[in-house]
Amino acid sequence: MQKRKLSAEKIKENIVNKSLQSVDIFYFDEIDSTNTRAKKYADDGGKTAIFIADRQSGGRGRMGRSFDSAGGLGIYISFLTFPSGNAADGIEITAKAACAVVRAVNSLVNIDAKIKWVNDITVNGKKLAGILTEGKINPDGTFAYAVCGIGINLYKREFPKEIKDIATTLEDESGETVDRALLTARIIEEYFKETDKGDVLSEYISLSSTLGKTVTVYKQSETFKAKAVSINERYELTVERENGETETLCSAEISTK
Ligand code: BTN
Repeated sequence: MQKRKLSAEKIKENIVNKSLQSVDIFYFDEIDSTNTRAKKYADDGGKTAIFIADRQSGGRGRMGRSFDSAGGLGIYISFLTFPSGNAADGIEITAKAACAVVRAVNSLVNIDAKIKWVNDITVNGKKLAGILTEGKINPDGTFAYAVCGIGINLYKREFPKEIKDIATTLEDESGETVDRALLTARIIEEYFKETDKGDVLSEYISLSSTLGKTVTVYKQSETFKAKAVSINERYELTVERENGETETLCSAEISTK
Protein backbone atom coordinates (compact mmCIF):
# COMPACT_ATOMS: atom_id res chain seq x y z
CA MET A 1 0.00 0.00 0.00
CA GLN A 2 1.45 3.34 -1.08
CA LYS A 3 0.75 5.19 2.19
CA ARG A 4 2.84 2.60 3.99
CA LYS A 5 5.89 2.95 1.73
CA LEU A 6 8.89 4.46 3.44
CA SER A 7 12.10 5.92 2.07
CA ALA A 8 14.58 8.59 3.12
CA GLU A 9 13.29 10.82 0.29
CA LYS A 10 9.65 10.51 1.33
CA ILE A 11 10.52 11.30 4.92
CA LYS A 12 12.56 14.37 3.91
CA GLU A 13 9.68 15.58 1.71
CA ASN A 14 7.56 15.71 4.87
CA ILE A 15 10.12 17.55 7.00
CA VAL A 16 9.18 21.22 7.13
CA ASN A 17 12.11 22.46 9.26
CA LYS A 18 14.77 23.37 6.66
CA SER A 19 17.67 23.05 9.10
CA LEU A 20 16.97 19.32 9.41
CA GLN A 21 17.28 18.71 5.67
CA SER A 22 21.04 18.34 6.06
CA VAL A 23 20.87 15.54 8.65
CA ASP A 24 21.74 12.20 7.05
CA ILE A 25 18.90 9.67 6.98
CA PHE A 26 19.91 6.08 6.27
CA TYR A 27 17.01 3.84 5.28
CA PHE A 28 17.11 0.02 5.19
CA ASP A 29 14.47 -2.39 3.94
CA GLU A 30 15.80 -4.87 6.49
CA ILE A 31 18.45 -4.66 9.16
CA ASP A 32 19.22 -6.42 12.43
CA SER A 33 18.73 -3.33 14.60
CA THR A 34 18.86 0.38 13.78
CA ASN A 35 20.43 0.99 17.21
CA THR A 36 23.20 -1.49 16.47
CA ARG A 37 23.79 0.10 13.06
CA ALA A 38 23.87 3.60 14.54
CA LYS A 39 26.44 2.54 17.14
CA LYS A 40 28.64 0.95 14.49
CA TYR A 41 28.41 4.11 12.38
CA ALA A 42 29.47 6.19 15.39
CA ASP A 43 32.32 3.81 16.24
CA ASP A 44 33.49 4.18 12.62
CA GLY A 45 33.64 7.97 13.01
CA GLY A 46 30.19 8.91 11.70
CA LYS A 47 28.37 12.12 12.66
CA THR A 48 24.80 12.93 13.73
CA ALA A 49 22.45 10.77 11.67
CA ILE A 50 19.12 8.98 11.63
CA PHE A 51 18.71 5.27 10.91
CA ILE A 52 15.35 3.86 9.83
CA ALA A 53 14.33 0.35 8.85
CA ASP A 54 11.21 -1.13 7.34
CA ARG A 55 11.84 -4.29 9.39
CA GLN A 56 14.37 -5.40 11.99
CA SER A 57 15.46 -8.99 12.30
CA GLY A 58 16.95 -8.35 15.75
CA GLY A 59 15.06 -5.38 17.16
CA ARG A 60 16.11 -4.86 20.77
CA GLY A 61 14.27 -3.54 23.82
CA ARG A 62 15.24 -2.74 27.38
CA MET A 63 16.46 -5.42 29.76
CA GLY A 64 17.73 -7.66 26.97
CA ARG A 65 14.26 -8.16 25.50
CA SER A 66 13.53 -8.26 21.80
CA PHE A 67 11.31 -5.71 20.10
CA ASP A 68 8.92 -7.21 17.58
CA SER A 69 9.68 -5.26 14.37
CA ALA A 70 7.47 -6.68 11.63
CA GLY A 71 8.02 -5.36 8.10
CA GLY A 72 5.86 -2.50 6.83
CA LEU A 73 3.89 -2.28 10.07
CA GLY A 74 5.80 0.08 12.30
CA ILE A 75 8.40 2.80 12.61
CA TYR A 76 11.83 1.63 13.73
CA ILE A 77 14.11 4.63 14.05
CA SER A 78 17.37 5.49 15.82
CA PHE A 79 18.90 8.91 16.38
CA LEU A 80 22.68 9.13 16.68
CA THR A 81 23.73 12.30 18.50
CA PHE A 82 26.74 13.61 20.39
CA PRO A 83 25.33 15.16 23.58
CA SER A 84 27.65 17.37 25.60
CA GLY A 85 26.23 16.45 29.00
CA ASN A 86 27.12 13.76 31.46
CA ALA A 87 26.10 10.24 30.49
CA ALA A 88 24.37 9.89 33.87
CA ASP A 89 21.78 12.26 32.42
CA GLY A 90 21.06 9.80 29.60
CA ILE A 91 17.58 9.23 30.95
CA GLU A 92 16.77 12.76 29.77
CA ILE A 93 17.32 11.60 26.21
CA THR A 94 14.70 8.90 26.70
CA ALA A 95 12.33 11.37 28.35
CA LYS A 96 12.77 13.94 25.57
CA ALA A 97 12.17 11.24 22.96
CA ALA A 98 9.04 10.03 24.77
CA CYS A 99 7.60 13.56 24.80
CA ALA A 100 8.51 13.98 21.11
CA VAL A 101 6.71 10.75 20.15
CA VAL A 102 3.59 11.66 22.13
CA ARG A 103 3.49 15.15 20.61
CA ALA A 104 3.96 13.77 17.09
CA VAL A 105 1.36 11.02 17.48
CA ASN A 106 -1.24 13.24 19.18
CA SER A 107 -0.78 15.90 16.47
CA LEU A 108 -1.74 13.49 13.70
CA VAL A 109 -4.42 11.24 15.15
CA ASN A 110 -7.20 11.66 17.63
CA ILE A 111 -5.90 9.59 20.53
CA ASP A 112 -4.54 10.27 23.98
CA ALA A 113 -1.04 8.78 23.96
CA LYS A 114 0.74 8.93 27.33
CA ILE A 115 4.09 7.95 28.84
CA LYS A 116 4.34 4.89 31.04
CA TRP A 117 7.39 5.24 33.26
CA VAL A 118 10.02 5.00 32.20
CA ASN A 119 10.26 4.45 28.46
CA ASP A 120 6.96 3.25 27.04
CA ILE A 121 4.26 5.11 25.16
CA THR A 122 0.81 3.78 25.94
CA VAL A 123 -2.73 4.29 24.76
CA ASN A 124 -5.61 3.03 26.89
CA GLY A 125 -3.11 1.14 29.02
CA LYS A 126 -1.53 -0.78 26.13
CA LYS A 127 1.96 -0.33 24.72
CA LEU A 128 2.14 1.60 21.47
CA ALA A 129 5.87 2.33 21.43
CA GLY A 130 9.10 1.72 23.29
CA ILE A 131 12.37 3.62 23.55
CA LEU A 132 15.86 2.23 24.03
CA THR A 133 18.66 4.71 24.67
CA GLU A 134 22.20 3.40 24.48
CA GLY A 135 25.58 4.97 23.99
CA LYS A 136 29.28 5.02 24.60
CA ILE A 137 30.66 6.72 27.66
CA ASN A 138 34.07 8.42 27.87
CA PRO A 139 36.34 7.70 30.87
CA ASP A 140 35.37 11.12 32.31
CA GLY A 141 31.69 10.17 32.35
CA THR A 142 30.65 12.26 29.35
CA PHE A 143 28.98 10.81 26.29
CA ALA A 144 31.15 9.77 23.34
CA TYR A 145 27.81 9.39 21.60
CA ALA A 146 24.20 8.47 22.31
CA VAL A 147 21.79 6.38 20.28
CA CYS A 148 18.10 6.75 20.98
CA GLY A 149 15.98 4.07 19.30
CA ILE A 150 12.22 4.28 19.02
CA GLY A 151 9.88 1.51 17.88
CA ILE A 152 6.21 2.29 17.20
CA ASN A 153 3.45 -0.17 16.32
CA LEU A 154 1.51 1.51 13.54
CA TYR A 155 -0.72 -0.87 11.63
CA LYS A 156 -3.02 -3.70 12.70
CA ARG A 157 -1.41 -7.09 13.03
CA GLU A 158 -1.20 -10.27 15.05
CA PHE A 159 1.33 -9.80 17.85
CA PRO A 160 3.30 -12.75 19.24
CA LYS A 161 1.32 -14.40 22.05
CA GLU A 162 3.65 -13.14 24.81
CA ILE A 163 2.74 -9.50 24.05
CA LYS A 164 -0.68 -9.67 22.41
CA ASP A 165 -2.52 -8.61 25.57
CA ILE A 166 -0.24 -5.70 26.37
CA ALA A 167 0.63 -4.28 22.92
CA THR A 168 -1.47 -2.20 20.58
CA THR A 169 -1.16 -0.30 17.31
CA LEU A 170 -1.98 3.24 16.30
CA GLU A 171 -4.49 1.89 13.80
CA ASP A 172 -6.27 -0.20 16.43
CA GLU A 173 -6.53 2.73 18.81
CA SER A 174 -7.45 5.50 16.38
CA GLY A 175 -9.11 3.65 13.52
CA GLU A 176 -6.81 5.62 11.21
CA THR A 177 -4.08 4.40 8.87
CA VAL A 178 -1.59 7.16 9.44
CA ASP A 179 0.98 7.92 6.74
CA ARG A 180 4.23 6.36 7.94
CA ALA A 181 6.53 8.88 6.23
CA LEU A 182 4.55 11.81 7.65
CA LEU A 183 4.60 10.48 11.21
CA THR A 184 8.31 9.66 10.92
CA ALA A 185 9.00 13.23 9.75
CA ARG A 186 6.95 14.64 12.67
CA ILE A 187 8.90 12.54 15.14
CA ILE A 188 12.20 13.74 13.69
CA GLU A 189 11.10 17.38 13.91
CA GLU A 190 9.85 16.98 17.47
CA TYR A 191 12.96 15.04 18.52
CA PHE A 192 15.31 17.81 17.39
CA LYS A 193 13.29 20.68 18.89
CA GLU A 194 15.35 22.76 21.29
CA THR A 195 14.03 22.15 24.79
CA ASP A 196 14.92 23.29 28.22
CA LYS A 197 15.73 20.61 30.85
CA GLY A 198 12.93 21.77 33.16
CA ASP A 199 10.41 21.91 30.34
CA VAL A 200 11.13 18.29 29.39
CA LEU A 201 10.61 17.16 32.98
CA SER A 202 7.33 19.01 33.36
CA GLU A 203 6.06 17.80 29.99
CA TYR A 204 7.09 14.22 30.86
CA ILE A 205 5.21 14.47 34.17
CA SER A 206 2.14 15.99 32.56
CA LEU A 207 2.04 13.16 30.01
CA SER A 208 2.54 10.40 32.57
CA SER A 209 0.05 7.55 32.57
CA THR A 210 1.75 6.14 35.68
CA LEU A 211 1.43 8.88 38.30
CA GLY A 212 -1.47 8.47 40.68
CA LYS A 213 -2.01 4.84 39.65
CA THR A 214 -1.62 1.69 41.69
CA VAL A 215 1.24 -0.18 40.04
CA THR A 216 2.86 -3.56 40.43
CA VAL A 217 6.61 -3.18 40.88
CA TYR A 218 8.81 -6.04 39.70
CA LYS A 219 12.23 -5.92 41.34
CA GLN A 220 14.81 -8.68 41.25
CA SER A 221 14.21 -9.38 44.92
CA GLU A 222 10.43 -8.91 45.13
CA THR A 223 7.16 -7.95 43.48
CA PHE A 224 4.78 -5.60 45.26
CA LYS A 225 1.86 -3.25 44.73
CA ALA A 226 2.24 0.46 45.42
CA LYS A 227 0.92 3.85 44.43
CA ALA A 228 3.01 5.91 41.99
CA VAL A 229 3.31 9.29 43.67
CA SER A 230 6.00 11.39 41.99
CA ILE A 231 8.81 11.59 39.42
CA ASN A 232 11.91 13.58 40.39
CA GLU A 233 14.44 15.52 38.27
CA ARG A 234 16.43 12.33 37.62
CA TYR A 235 13.24 10.69 36.32
CA GLU A 236 13.16 8.33 39.28
CA LEU A 237 9.71 7.17 40.34
CA THR A 238 8.67 7.36 43.97
CA VAL A 239 6.08 4.80 45.01
CA GLU A 240 4.18 4.39 48.25
CA ARG A 241 3.54 0.90 49.56
CA GLU A 242 0.30 -0.11 51.20
CA ASN A 243 1.97 0.28 54.64
CA GLY A 244 2.84 3.92 53.86
CA GLU A 245 6.58 3.35 53.23
CA THR A 246 7.96 5.14 50.19
CA GLU A 247 10.65 3.94 47.81
CA THR A 248 12.35 5.68 44.90
CA LEU A 249 12.95 3.51 41.87
CA CYS A 250 15.45 4.27 39.14
CA SER A 251 14.96 1.42 36.71
CA ALA A 252 12.52 -1.19 37.96
CA GLU A 253 9.88 -2.77 35.73
CA ILE A 254 6.33 -1.76 36.57
CA SER A 255 2.91 -2.68 35.33
CA THR A 256 -0.23 -0.63 35.78
CA LYS A 257 -2.50 -3.68 35.66
C1 BTN B 1 11.51 -1.32 24.75
O1 BTN B 1 10.31 -1.44 24.50
O2 BTN B 1 12.04 -1.83 25.74
C2 BTN B 1 12.33 -0.48 23.83
C3 BTN B 1 12.10 -0.82 22.38
C4 BTN B 1 12.97 -0.03 21.43
C5 BTN B 1 12.81 -0.52 20.01
C6 BTN B 1 13.53 0.37 19.03
S1 BTN B 1 13.10 0.00 17.36
C7 BTN B 1 14.39 0.98 16.79
C8 BTN B 1 15.58 0.73 17.69
N1 BTN B 1 16.33 -0.44 17.27
C9 BTN B 1 16.28 -1.40 18.17
O3 BTN B 1 16.85 -2.51 18.06
N2 BTN B 1 15.56 -1.03 19.23
C10 BTN B 1 15.06 0.31 19.07
